[in-house]
Amino acid sequence: MHPLLRAPTPAAWIEQARRTCDVLLIDHANCEKKAASTAIALMFAYAEDLELTDKMSRLAREELRHYEQVAALMKELQVVPQRLAPGRYAERLRRLVARTEPQREVDLMICGALIEARSCERFAAVGPAIGGPLGELFAGLHAAEARHFKVYLDLARRAALRAGIDPAARIEEFSALEADLITSRDELFRFHSGVP
Ligand SMILES: [Fe+2]
Ligand SMILES: [Fe+2]
Repeated sequence: MHPLLRAPTPAAWIEQARRTCDVLLIDHANCEKKAASTAIALMFAYAEDLELTDKMSRLAREELRHYEQVAALMKELQVVPQRLAPGRYAERLRRLVARTEPQREVDLMICGALIEARSCERFAAVGPAIGGPLGELFAGLHAAEARHFKVYLDLARRAALRAGIDPAARIEEFSALEADLITSRDELFRFHSGVP
């Protein structure tokens, strides 16, 4: 089990992923784009912090390369792109983010770490279950998401230290919410959705 996660991906989600690979792949392409745009947004929000902006710039470029890999596979598998409404996951995590600094930066970094951690765990869980070229792609992305999780977690700890905040209790709060979103019933099947 991943150190930041409080619940594994439910078997029912993996089963749904096997049945609806197209939706999974289209939503995954959106996740990569969103990961890049979130990293760029953080570069604007914390522009005076060169360590953060450098890490986020590298992250954004890597996420865009992931997007290109996913888009190439969609083309190869003849998956027709379609507009998908976003799932509840990221929006619900964002609701817990403080509106004022310095807590806000700590929270945003914890959020990023959790999303990357769950992506990492899901790639590992669903890759072997799906197999084929999609399973291979997921297996290849697994290591990158493990690195990204570390980048965000280090930035969360650094921001907390600077602000004199203990990050442990806050991480626990976010992890509990995240586990709830993953283990509760979810109407919309997406890469980060709950139980279908
Ligand atoms: Fe990625
Ligand atoms: Fe990532």
